[in-house]
Amino acid sequence: MAKAKKVKSSYVCQSCGHSAPKWLGRCPQCDEWNSLVEEVSRPAGRGIAARPTTAGAAANKPVSIAEALEADDLERLCCGIDELDRVLGSGLVPGSLVLLGGDPGVGKSTLLCQMLQGIAEAHGSILYASGEESVAQTGLRAKRVGATNPGLTLYAETNLDIILEQALEMRPAVLAIDSIQTVHCDALDSIPGSVGQVREATGRLMAFSKTSGIPTILVGHVTKEGSIAGPKTLEHMVDTVLHFEGEGTSPYRILRAIKNRFGSTQEIGVFEMRGSGLCEVPNPSELFLAERPEDAPGSLVVATLEGTRPILVEVQALVAPPAANFGRRTCAGVDSNRVALLLAVLAKRAGLDLVPEDVFVNVAGGVRVFEPAVDLGIACALASSAYDNAVDGKTLVFGEVGLAGEVRAVNMADIRLSEAAKLGFERCVLPEQNRQRLESDHGLTLVGVSTVKEALRALS
Ligand code: TYD
Ligand code: MG
Repeated sequence: MAKAKKVKSSYVCQSCGHSAPKWLGRCPQCDEWNSLVEEVSRPAGRGIAARPTTAGAAANKPVSIAEALEADDLERLCCGIDELDRVLGSGLVPGSLVLLGGDPGVGKSTLLCQMLQGIAEAHGSILYASGEESVAQTGLRAKRVGATNPGLTLYAETNLDIILEQALEMRPAVLAIDSIQTVHCDALDSIPGSVGQVREATGRLMAFSKTSGIPTILVGHVTKEGSIAGPKTLEHMVDTVLHFEGEGTSPYRILRAIKNRFGSTQEIGVFEMRGSGLCEVPNPSELFLAERPEDAPGSLVVATLEGTRPILVEVQALVAPPAANFGRRTCAGVDSNRVALLLAVLAKRAGLDLVPEDVFVNVAGGVRVFEPAVDLGIACALASSAYDNAVDGKTLVFGEVGLAGEVRAVNMADIRLSEAAKLGFERCVLPEQNRQRLESDHGLTLVGVSTVKEALRALS
């Protein structure tokens, strides 16, 4: 009589991915209550047998560094969408695994579809497995965004073993899975989207892309807490994590690299969602400043950097009498702790006590800026609103503020100034230390300041 296969079961936390041999009411790793779910795995069988270990590639063996260095010259696959290629680090690296995350409805599938179209034009066939939508639905979207290259193959399949078999047979230039939460592996009994399934599927896809050299793109949903697909472990497994973000009703979307083994994590790509898909926004400063009110107190333009790219954004501050008997702070797009610090510095070092007031700070256009270089801009915008004194619309401000009320130098001041000059700004209030070390004045009137007090005086 054949011996029955032993079924192994473990309890996996759906929040952090911790695995325990028995059920517990509270996860010992992340302290989440009632998050452990039983996951049963069958030790042998089709799933593991189908794992594409050496298929299509040379067997694994140790190699000398000289050989490995040659591999560095691998040709990257560009999709022709500059904003996306730049965030990836000039294109997709062969054999890499990319996770594209974002809120539902933000446009992940649309971006993927346009990207695959670009790659299909340049590099040939693509296998696009979609478990979220039927072939007809994916086709409708593809038609809408003009992704009609015959190299695009749609595949409405959710069984990962079958998808990988198909991919090995077809050997596409890129394999795309939309989304990782809908695929399942036969080796596990748990439902698709559970931590065990997502982790197993990602592990298998990692092995697949590394051994076959076929770059693979996964779409992943973001959980309530903002992390991709629950466990952080997923982000550790892949090579690149891209995050697609958008604010409420705004048509603008920002693509960020959160992790990138083959490029910078500082770059961002800006897109606009239109009726016919996503359009690139090559000059975001112009867009973020387009609706700026003229001569409004509390509104000020700051120069911030995203990677190597300067972006001018409008910071708006509103200081109002307190609604309750303590001052509230409401911040969007800037760090509220930083605003609290700047309010304290203004009170102690510049004689402007706004601590009891209600304070609102907002960055227009749904952008988020967390660079210290925006400190001085926020402080000046607060003062401008408090004194009801509008700052001239052609003036730009940047600089880091210290606790002693000093204004500190920031990096790449020349790049920030040249962007401002391009957009027609005429005057800039900047750290004195930066002013002394500039390559050129870029045709701007420069006001170097060493303290917040001096900056407020320069703007009044
Ligand atoms: P989608 O890519 O399906 O989002 P995700 O995959 O992240 O869930 O895009 C969803 C939204 O984008 C939907 O509300 C409609 C809008 N959209 C446009 O405005 N224009 C377009 O050309 C497309 C394809 C979608
Ligand atoms: Mg989708």
